[in-house]
Amino acid sequence: MIMNRKLPIGVLVSGSGSNLQSIIDHIERGLLGAEIKVVISNVPDAYALERARKHHLPTLVIRHEDFETREAFDAEIVRVFKSADVELVVMAGFMRIITPVLLDAYPYRVMNIHPALLPSFRGMNAQRQAVDYGVRFSGCTVHFVDQGVDSGPIIIQAVVPVLDEDTEETLSARILKEEHRIYPQAIQFFVEGRISVNNRRVRIRDGKCDEFLTVHNPALSGF
Ligand code: GAR
Repeated sequence: MIMNRKLPIGVLVSGSGSNLQSIIDHIERGLLGAEIKVVISNVPDAYALERARKHHLPTLVIRHEDFETREAFDAEIVRVFKSADVELVVMAGFMRIITPVLLDAYPYRVMNIHPALLPSFRGMNAQRQAVDYGVRFSGCTVHFVDQGVDSGPIIIQAVVPVLDEDTEETLSARILKEEHRIYPQAIQFFVEGRISVNNRRVRIRDGKCDEFLTVHNPALSGF
């Protein structure tokens, strides 16, 4: 296990940055052996930038509108990350589809978090999709990014119940609490060199699981 080395990471954001905040907090509490080298936002007034600045982290706005192609936009991100010696790219509420330009520069080194139990409810508004569909459980997924949309190898998932009275907002809040736990954990697995990927299946060396864990929603009454 690599104990003292801090993994240099680059974070991509577009919005509120609560996942970024959780990563920062876990680093500051000594639970996550990473160092944020730069936070890049494609949205100039993303609140995530303010969070980063409060912690004296380098930030940069790269507006996707300023580039003619997705590839050119990604090439600029790669240039910045490489010049900051970033080794792992962390997409934290980054609302752009990335291209092979970024993926080839960081093979199996781009992570994303998605607010659903993939492969259900890919794409935008995953929490609304879950409420509208009427599923009894939803959750969140940390995965490596591949060339598809929300389709890469899954590292960790967390499950939350969907309640009858849930709205998109209440479900999002329940899911977000779990996002803030599983994302730092997934990054820490990577830091510790415990993740391997084989035929899109991720293995976590010495990862613990309760194999008898079953959950029901609504609860069963005597069955
Ligand atoms: C999070 O719920 C994240 O899972 C989602 O955006 C939110 C960002 O919140 N990402 C996606 O939907 C990506 N397809 P945050 O800015 O507060 O971390």
